[in-house]
Amino acid sequence: MASTIVNMPLNVGTIKGLDCLSHGKFNANVLPIRPSISSLPHRHMFVVKASTNDGPIKKLGMSDAECEAAVVAGNIPEAPPVPPIPASPAGTPVVTSVDIKRRPRRNRRSPVLRSAFQETSLSPANFVYPLFIHEGEEDTPIGAMPGCYRLGWRHGLVEEVAKARDVGVNSIVLFPKVPDALKSPTGDEAYNDNGLVPRTIRLLKDKYPDLIIYTDVALDPYSSDGHDGIVREDGVIMNDETVHQLCKQAVSQARAGADVVSPSDMMDGRVGAIRSALDAEGFQHVSIMSYTAKYASSFYGPFREALDSNPRFGDKKTYQMNPANYREALIELRADESEGADILLVKPGLPYLDVVRLLRDNSPLPIAAYQVSGEYSMIKAGGVLKMIDEQKVMLESLMCLRRAGADIILTYFALQAARCLCGEK
Ligand code: PBG
Repeated sequence: MASTIVNMPLNVGTIKGLDCLSHGKFNANVLPIRPSISSLPHRHMFVVKASTNDGPIKKLGMSDAECEAAVVAGNIPEAPPVPPIPASPAGTPVVTSVDIKRRPRRNRRSPVLRSAFQETSLSPANFVYPLFIHEGEEDTPIGAMPGCYRLGWRHGLVEEVAKARDVGVNSIVLFPKVPDALKSPTGDEAYNDNGLVPRTIRLLKDKYPDLIIYTDVALDPYSSDGHDGIVREDGVIMNDETVHQLCKQAVSQARAGADVVSPSDMMDGRVGAIRSALDAEGFQHVSIMSYTAKYASSFYGPFREALDSNPRFGDKKTYQMNPANYREALIELRADESEGADILLVKPGLPYLDVVRLLRDNSPLPIAAYQVSGEYSMIKAGGVLKMIDEQKVMLESLMCLRRAGADIILTYFALQAARCLCGEK
């Protein structure tokens, strides 16, 4: 949402982000109004109560009623006396004030001013929650991603989605852990209409029709080679043949009820081909979120452990972008725009803020940023080791992705961060 008009009582303001949250005095006043207004259209609106309830404020020794009566009688109260300057520590140098016209600190001096001038906001509506699923009944912890699980598609997943919806996160993206027996060089399981992903989509849509389901379009979870495309004998990843498979995968996901298919494979021309394939099957309403600038990054390590999808040989550098490149993202942007992408994604997130900003400034399309597994795990590890404040760093990193220009953020922190934004722990 680009701008919001909200009708609220005067002493109430929307939480715009870090300042309100990190300000100890304000924190106590955060009111999650969600439960009591669940029937209203603005269901997920989070408010801050800006005044305290410590009784009437003393004004010039008069009560509120006296003050009002004085004003009605035309006796406007005098301005309060200039308060004495609080004491400085012993040894503070005595100086004549510096003659500077511009003192940017004036606009930062109180919580009210800071929140009035805050340029970026962070809300659960901005999050897309990536969830790992498997055929099993149990939820299996992922070693390299504390707090993340391979969720049983029938139970654990449905519960996790319910928890997320409860705090305003109503968008998810699914990543399947596929048993080795179903993997093959051409990844045909990717378009099995009764495969894990289509089955899960049908289950979720049946339970939560308004849930927005993003899917991953790429062969790696289904490829016995662990690559996003079909691998030729000489190790070359075949482009057009892979695109053919991706189209079938996207159509199968759309048929199951996916709202947004998200090609993360980085083959050339896949967005246009997928658009035509979807349209030919009557899925004009299904969106494409293209991984426009996806870099060959080492920050994906924990994800590949989660899905057991490490490439069997080599790396992904012939299709994913070189982390050293910036201008090249514009080439991908132009291709994806002209091929009909609805959302453009940058991945990883925090180390690539310049690329998020580049896309933001060069396209009117919504921009997504993916805070990937390695970014998540580093914050978690730093928190566990007490080297950083996990919660504050989490919220700051998400706010920074928004500031750089991301409309939506794919983040494993979606549930945890939304709970913080709602005033829950
Ligand atoms: C592959 C895919 C990857 C991620 C999402 N989709 C890994 C890869 O390209 O090897 C990584 C996400 C993460 O690290 O959180 N199609």
